[in-house]
Amino acid sequence: MDKKVFRDINYGMYIVSTKDDKKVGCVINTLTQITSDNPTISISLNKENYTNEVIRKMKKFSVSILSEETSPNTIAKFGFSSSKDVDKYVDVPYEEVEDNVVITDNICGYLICEVINIIDVGTHDVFIARVIDAKKVSDLPPMTYSYYHKVIKGTSPRKAPTYVLEDVESDEEVWVCDVCGYVHKGPISDDFICPICGVNRSHFQKK
Ligand SMILES: Cc1cc2nc3c(=O)[nH]c(=O)nc-3n(C[C@H](O)[C@H](O)[C@H](O)COP(=O)(O)O)c2cc1C
Repeated sequence: MDKKVFRDINYGMYIVSTKDDKKVGCVINTLTQITSDNPTISISLNKENYTNEVIRKMKKFSVSILSEETSPNTIAKFGFSSSKDVDKYVDVPYEEVEDNVVITDNICGYLICEVINIIDVGTHDVFIARVIDAKKVSDLPPMTYSYYHKVIKGTSPRKAPTYVLEDVESDEEVWVCDVCGYVHKGPISDDFICPICGVNRSHFQKK
């Protein structure tokens, strides 16, 4: 199967948040609107992601719709570390809305959702949810998954459903950021800064 063709499926970029005794959340691209009347959506979450565990328990979550102006650092933090180990909300703007937490870093808007069904699809669960409130907060252009890959040059971690091993020429030098997983191909300079999470050259490991 040629999995590269999946890259031609269009997606947006979102942060899904929820909370029990602590705030958790992660980046997703797998959100789909299902119905418009009595609106419903679906999201796909890896069973190994801590956010999945807490949403299963709390049966509610918010979705922040990211824009092209959302900071790459916010995406790195919510997309490459686990809420189990770190408080992702430190230094990231957020608001409490209707007993939910919503990331507000240059977003287009947000949805407040209640889970109505969970479908087990092996590595991931698909959560079907009713949107109980929604708000547009800016006219910023929504960030697409393609923009994230092509313009920000972001990568996807193993636990993202759309993960595809990067194509690498066999004799090419490859350096991988140990914070966010960004892949730099070719020689790397001493003053290189990760374009995704901003760490310096010492965080790059040669593969
Ligand atoms: C661009 C991008 C898209 C992602 N899409 C998804 C997704 O749709 N579903 C998912 O479960 N994880 C996705 N991930 C991975 C999670 O954000 C990541 O595993 C995160 O560290 C999980 O954090 P948690 O353990 O706090 O839940 C994506 C990550 C990135 C960077």
